[in-house]
Amino acid sequence: MIQGGKKYKSNSEISKEWDAIAKVRSKQLRRHEDISMDKVLIPILLDMTSDSNFSNVIDLGCGTGYSTKQFYKKSNKLTGIDVSPLSIKEAKISSPEINFVTNSIENHSKLNSNKYSLAISNMTFMDVPNLEDVVKSTSKLLKLNSHLVFTITHPYFWPLYWGYEKQDWFNYSQEIEIEANFNITLNHSSFKTTHYHRPLETYVNLLGKYNFQIIEMREPIPNNEIMSEYPSKWKYPRFIGLKCIKTNGNTE
Ligand SMILES: C[S@@+](CC[C@H](N)C(=O)[O-])C[C@H]1O[C@@H](n2cnc3c(N)ncnc32)[C@H](O)[C@@H]1O
Repeated sequence: MIQGGKKYKSNSEISKEWDAIAKVRSKQLRRHEDISMDKVLIPILLDMTSDSNFSNVIDLGCGTGYSTKQFYKKSNKLTGIDVSPLSIKEAKISSPEINFVTNSIENHSKLNSNKYSLAISNMTFMDVPNLEDVVKSTSKLLKLNSHLVFTITHPYFWPLYWGYEKQDWFNYSQEIEIEANFNITLNHSSFKTTHYHRPLETYVNLLGKYNFQIIEMREPIPNNEIMSEYPSKWKYPRFIGLKCIKTNGNTE
């Protein structure tokens, strides 16, 4: 069941949803049941950060820390933050050597201005209720000229892939809060999580407003070998990867 409507959830409600799924999600990932995570998302994030400065990295919305582990191989100074305490608990159990912190991106930025040389974020920005606060906070966390590299669901194609573009409540140009069962290609669950549909222009305009210049965009499609692992062939990209550079001082 997929339900869409006006935005009303707070960070603490979002955190509870991810708390509820934390154990199951951690197990799914450790068993390599999420093909897109292993074969599409982590590879493009590693590729898009190949020339980034890994001296002090933050993983924004790190969840159970599965992808964080891959970034840690390139940096021994890395912090993973997530608003869900039970996701962070799972992350600490599987990687005690990594510095994981329970906090929202917004609150973490209040005490950690101009600190990080790189921010990576996998599949989090479409899950935050207040994207403007999150982009502004991310900008505040980063040093001048550092990179922000993130993935999101594709704002145009994800609604087609999930089939909700046919619903009366869907309108591409509007921000819509969407609650649905958390599903991955090989595994359907009864846990509800929330994501926000926002048109691509919202991302591009907010990045520009908070001093991020987009330097690369990717719309990954798996190669034939990886595509054969999916039950059905992708007809269009499901995700977007964006790489930005912080170009200016902080905006208050
Ligand atoms: C789809 S999960 C991605 C988790 C992780 N990056 C991964 O690749 O497995 C989205 C995550 O964003 C977190 N999140 C949502 N809003 C947040 C916020 N404002 N600050 C920090 N984390 C947030 C959720 O708790 C959840 O763990």
